[in-house]
Amino acid sequence: MEEVVKAGRSLELRPLCLRDARPLFALVDANRDRLRRWLPWTDANLSVQDSRAYILRVRARARAGMALPFGLWWRGSLVGVVGFVWIDQANRCGGIGYWLAREAEGHGLMTAAVSALARHGFHTLNLHRAEIRAGVRNRRSRAIPERLGFRHEGTLRQAERLAGRYVDHAVYGMLAEEWRRR
Ligand SMILES: CC(C)(COP(=O)(O)OP(=O)(O)OC[C@H]1O[C@@H](n2cnc3c(N)ncnc32)[C@H](O)[C@@H]1OP(=O)(O)O)[C@@H](O)C(=O)NCCC(=O)NCCS
Repeated sequence: MEEVVKAGRSLELRPLCLRDARPLFALVDANRDRLRRWLPWTDANLSVQDSRAYILRVRARARAGMALPFGLWWRGSLVGVVGFVWIDQANRCGGIGYWLAREAEGHGLMTAAVSALARHGFHTLNLHRAEIRAGVRNRRSRAIPERLGFRHEGTLRQAERLAGRYVDHAVYGMLAEEWRRR
């Protein structure tokens, strides 16, 4: 399933590969302060070597059908990461995660990318359910499933430890049949 997923005329999801390590690290490093607020791995990614190790890890999970990570490319540049962070094959369910560089924020790119990813999940991977979890106060992240018509299914209390404090997660779900009906 290692195919490029088009999300617009100049926007595409390309399977993450080792040659992305350098631009990926540059992006993480330039956006460290804002990513840290919502993403727990930021301070463990301190070198190109760390980005290589991350890519190798997620590619191994992808080969096992347990994840599907993409670099998000806009007008030929890497601007973020989006993908199925986990796939539960037994229940045909996938959890979507994403982040964007600051310069790429505010253009609707991630909404378009997540829409293309969900379509790929339902149509190509034959998923039954897609899920997105976001910190309850992460307004920009929550707006993405809300724009795409995911249902807000509830709150997981103190579901994630971020910078030494626990945050609640808003959980959004979309079923294959709902996606087809939209
Ligand atoms: C979460 C994150 C990816 C959202 O980025 P974003 O740019 O707000 O999301 P989109 O790319 O979908 O763009 C939506 C914005 O573009 C605007 N926009 C412009 N054209 C648009 C279009 N055609 N369609 C949708 N939105 C559009 C929207 O109004 C919105 O801006 P606003 O919030 O100022 O109203 C980004 O803030 C981020 O990386 N945050 C840090 C990491 C993070 O929190 N990750 C998620 C963890 S759960």
